[in-house]
Amino acid sequence: MDLKQELSERADVFNIELEEYLKNGQPKSLYDATRYLPLAGGKRLRPCISMLSCDAVGGDVKRVMPFAVALELIHNFTLVHDDIMDKSRLRRNLPTVHIKFGESTAIIAGDLLFAKAFEVMHDISDDSSVFKRVDFGLINCVREICEGQQLDMEFERRQDVREEEYLEMIRRKTAALFKFAAEGGAILGGGTKEEIKALDEYGESLGLAFQIRDDYLDMSSDEGTLGKDIGNDIRNGKKTLIAVRSISNAVGDDKKLLEKIFGNGDASEQEVKRVYDLFKEMKSIEYAKNTALEYSIKAKKALNMLDDSDAKQVLIGLAEYSITREK
Ligand code: IPE
Ligand code: IPE
Ligand code: MG
Ligand code: MG
Ligand code: MG
Repeated sequence: MDLKQELSERADVFNIELEEYLKNGQPKSLYDATRYLPLAGGKRLRPCISMLSCDAVGGDVKRVMPFAVALELIHNFTLVHDDIMDKSRLRRNLPTVHIKFGESTAIIAGDLLFAKAFEVMHDISDDSSVFKRVDFGLINCVREICEGQQLDMEFERRQDVREEEYLEMIRRKTAALFKFAAEGGAILGGGTKEEIKALDEYGESLGLAFQIRDDYLDMSSDEGTLGKDIGNDIRNGKKTLIAVRSISNAVGDDKKLLEKIFGNGDASEQEVKRVYDLFKEMKSIEYAKNTALEYSIKAKKALNMLDDSDAKQVLIGLAEYSITREK
C-alpha cells in the first residue's frame, strides 16, 4: 500500500468539495482572508480520517463529505487563531493570516470559518438523530479545543507542569478533533457501537502521537520542510513533553541555560539550537519519541476488531506516519 498515494487521492476528492463551500462573498477583504488558509493546502488529515473511518465500517463515503469539510474548516479556524496566540509568521509555507491581512481581520476570518463549518453540517443528509449526534460531537470538540488552547497558553507561564497535565492539554487541543474525525466518520458510515468505539479510541491515540511529533518537529525541522516557524515553541516557553521532562531533570549549568533561553521570545536561532541540543543530550527527545510510539501502537491496536479492508490498512499506515512524518 502506498500511503501517500492513498491519502492524496482522498485529499483530491475532498478539495473539490471544500472549494464548493468556500465561495466568495462581501466584504471581499474578509472573504479573501477566510479562503486564504483553507485553499493554501495542508495535509487534510482530519477529513481523510473521517472518509477512511466511514469506509472502514462499510459506509458510503459521499455521505461523510459535509462532515469532512466541517472538520477541515474547524481545524483551519483554530490554526488562524493559534497563529495569533503563538506569534507565528509562517504556515503552509505562506505568511500566516494575521501577518498577511492584519490581526483584526484574522480574528474575524477565524470566526467566519467556525460559522461556515456549522453551516456546512446542515448538508448532512442523514436523519435528525444522526445529524444531532455528529453536530453535538463537533460542538464538543470545539469546546475541548478552546480548553486545551487556554491550558497551552497558561502553561507557558508555569515551570511545574507535569507530564499528565501536558497529555491532558494535548488531548483537548489536538486529539479531540482527530478522535471525533474518526468517530464521526464511523457514525455517518453506519458503524456498529463497537466499531464506533474502536475508531474513537484510534483517533484519540493517533492525535496524541501526532501532537508529540509536532512538538518535536517545531524544534528539529527547517522552515522549508515544515512550512511553519521553527523554534517558536522554545521561544514561547511551550510546555511540550520534551520541555516538561527537561525542566524537571535539569540541574546546574543546564538549568541556567533553560532559565536564560527557554521562554525568551528574543532568543536567536543559535540559542534555540543550544536548547534543542540540551533536550537531545538529556534524552528527552528519545523519551518523547517513545511515548509517541506507544500511542501509535495503541491506535493500531484499537483497529484490531474491524474487518479487514483497504481503508483499515490506510488507517494503520496513518498511525505509523503520525510518528515518522517530516511535515
Ligand atoms: C497542525 O495540524 C496543528 C496541530 C494540531 C499540530 P496539521 O499538521 O494537520 O496542519 P495542516 O492542516 O497539514 O497544515
Ligand atoms: C496547535 O498546536 C493545536 C491547535 C488546536 C491549533 P500548535 O500550536 O503546536 O500547532 P502549530 O505547530 O502551530 O501548527
Ligand atoms: Mg499553539
Ligand atoms: Mg501554533
Ligand atoms: Mg506545533
